Parts: sequence; structure tokens; C-alpha cells
Amino acid sequence: CIDIARLPKETGCFTYDAGFTATASCKSAITYIDGDAGVLLYRGYPIDQLAEKSSFLEVAYLLINGELPDQKQFAAFSHDVTHHTMMHEALKSFLNGFRHDAHPMAMLCGSVASLSAFYHDTLDLNDPEQRRMAAVRLIAKIPTIAAAAYRYSIGWPIRYPRNNLDYVSRFLHMMFEVPSEPLELNPVVAKALDLLFILHADHEQNASTSTVRLVGSTGANPYACVSAGIAALWGPAHGGANEAVLKMLEEIGTPDKVESAIARAKDKESGFRLMGFGHRVYKNFDPRAKIIREMTHKVLGELGVDDPLLEVAMKLEEAALKDDYFVQRKLYPNVDFYSGIIYKALKIPTEMFTVMFAIGRTAGWVAHWLEQQTDPEAKIGRPRQIYTGADTRDYVAIDRR
Ligand code: ACO
Repeated sequence: CIDIARLPKETGCFTYDAGFTATASCKSAITYIDGDAGVLLYRGYPIDQLAEKSSFLEVAYLLINGELPDQKQFAAFSHDVTHHTMMHEALKSFLNGFRHDAHPMAMLCGSVASLSAFYHDTLDLNDPEQRRMAAVRLIAKIPTIAAAAYRYSIGWPIRYPRNNLDYVSRFLHMMFEVPSEPLELNPVVAKALDLLFILHADHEQNASTSTVRLVGSTGANPYACVSAGIAALWGPAHGGANEAVLKMLEEIGTPDKVESAIARAKDKESGFRLMGFGHRVYKNFDPRAKIIREMTHKVLGELGVDDPLLEVAMKLEEAALKDDYFVQRKLYPNVDFYSGIIYKALKIPTEMFTVMFAIGRTAGWVAHWLEQQTDPEAKIGRPRQIYTGADTRDYVAIDRR
């Protein structure tokens, strides 16, 4: 209940919407979600069609430009991305300054923000070509920085990007190749990773994308905006959930402990939630989770992985879908529930899971940032608040308090 007399005098119509559950902060033509029907469209194309037929780089082009590319346009875009994958040599000393056990998300966040210091001279936000180049640079360089952060954290020398490889294979090479043992790229692994990048590429005004837009609304440069997006993604209620899912499955340990985990998640006092369940917008099955679920089984089958954690995950899913608490609140497995299991099968370490999400989501972040730059209705984002503090009172000297 709000005391209207305490609202600021200039207030005409004031909406209190904690968590922005019913407030549109912008108009956007990029992604459409119907949470009740479980529909997700990128520029009008259903996510299942893109997942089956497209590639991450083509989807990135689509999100940014609004249309699927023809062959010439795609070749030019791939060429641009491929030729901006190198990171500045000086950025390596920046990475070397982090503690050896720094979380790769911390390194990614700091290093992407530092790109502002490398490209500030060449960035005129009023020039469409320079804005496009900033978007290309971010899509190209973030996998290089991500892989470098990982290798630094395990004490391996950094691998330079190989331009004769496609986007996903190049990333896998930078992550995993060691000099003594040239990496054999498994097409199943590359396809699964490409699919995960597609599914994570955009999701309209999620917390991290809204953060990119809020920072972008001030006219800040795009590297700072995307770095802010990475910070927002890190939290366990958002992109950090995929890492939290794996930790939760490990903690549960065996299928016979699933029932007690469900009971704990239903007990509000426990402070424990089933990670990878529920979604702010999808109150039906997350369409991305359906696609990943199928891919999870395919990857584990083809790689011959027999992972006991998968058994725990399947039992958890089955038990939650039958439980009234989860059914009534429409808490279904979300995209993060399965992505962690695939990443684990691909031998991607747990602390890199959210970084993987960030690589895919970069396409959406830059698409939103570009859209915002040409939106005639865009304004600085400046929410208001409901003040709940003290009434006006007089200062009391410290010796009289
Ligand atoms: N486990 C147990 N209970 C849950 C869970 C869960 N995972 N999620 C929601 N609930 C319960 C809440 O306690 C609440 O119960 P109540 O109505 O009795 O009070 C009800 O369901 C609604 O929950 P809210 O927190 O109000 O839902 P909201 O839409 O604000 O939150 C969120 C969505 C943050 C995703 C939440 O479901 C959650 O914390 N899930 C776990 C973390 C997670 O998987 N995050 C990834 C999101 S997807 C992504 O970022 C790609």
C-alpha cells in the first residue's frame, strides 16, 4: 500500500512494477516471445527452424540486420568476423594481471570492458559503419578472450585464432588444443556448440540485454555496454544458472536423493530452489529446452558418455513435472537445465558455462545496441522509485546523538 501523499510532487502517473514484470522499456523488432504458448521467434523465424537449419553466424547476421543473408552477404560477414578475431597483444598483459584462480566470467567482464580502451579513438557512434564494426569486433573477439581467460586460469599458453576454421571450430581449437596433441574436431561436438550458441543468441528484454540497453541509453561505448551485460548475465538467477545446475546435480549426487531435493526446493525456509527450473516469461515449456533436451541425448549417445549426473537430471525433471508445487507454479526446466549437461559432455569446465552463454548472447546484445542507436524514441533509461525512508528531519550534531 503506497502513501500517495509521499510521491514526488511532479508525479502524474506513477507505476510501481518491481522486477519490471509488466513494463516495456523499448520497442524492438528483433525477438518475439509468447511465454504461454512456448513460442520464440528471431526476426519472425521460429527457433526450432533456425536450430535445425541455420548456423550461429547466420543467426547473428539475422539478428543484427533483420533478414537472412544471401551467399554474398554471408561470405562478407564471415570474412569480417574471421578477420577481427585477434585480440590486441597488450590485452594479454591485462589478462596476466588477474589472479591465477580468477573466475573466467570475472576475466571476461574486465577484458571486454577494456576493449573500450583499445578502440575508443576509432568509434564515432554517429557513423553506422563504425557502429557495425564495433558489433563485428565484439562477436569476433569475445570467443578469443573467453578461451584465453580459460587457458590462463589453467596455466596453459594462449592459442591464437586460426582463420581457416569456422566460428565454433576456431573456438574449440583455442580452448583445447595443446602442442603435443593436435585437436581432432568432432563434428557432433561442433554442431552441439553451434546449436547452443543459436539458442542463447537472444531473448528480448532479459536482465543482461536490458542492462546493455540501459547503459547504451547513456551514450556509453558498446564495449562498456556489453561488459555490463556480461556482469548481469553472471548472476545465478540469469546466465549463472547453468553453472548452478551442475553444482546442484553434483550435490544431489544419486537418483535416490532426488525426492529430498524436491522437498527442500518446496520449503521456502530452506532458501534452496531447483536451479534450471522456472522462467519469468515462459509459463509453459521453454521451447529452447525442448530442443536442447533432444540434443543432450544425441550428444551423450554419440560421444558414448555414461554420466550418472544425467540420470539424476532426468529423475529430477520427471519428479518435478509430476509434483503439484511445480505444476501449479508452471515451473518447467529452462534452457540452462540441459545446457550444463551438454557442456559437461563436451569437456567444457563448469566455471566456463556462463562464459559459453555470453558468447552466444553477444549476438543479441549487439543487435539490441545497434537497434537502440537508431531508435528515434530512445531516451536515457531512468526508472523512478517509491521512497520509503524518513520524513524531512533536522541534522543533529554528533555529540548530541
Ligand atoms: N525452485 C523452487 N521454487 C521456485 C523456483 C525454483 N526454481 N522458481 C520459482 N519458484 C517459486 C517461487 O518460490 C514462487 O513461489 P510462491 O508463488 O509460492 O511465492 C513462485 O515459484 C514464482 O517465483 P518467482 O521468483 O516470483 O518467479 P520469477 O518469474 O520472478 O523468477 C526465475 C523466475 C528467477 C527464473 C526463478 O524461477 C528461479 O529463480 N529459477 C531458478 C534459477 C534459474 O534457473 N534461472 C535461469 C533463468 S533462464 C535464463 O536466464 C536463461
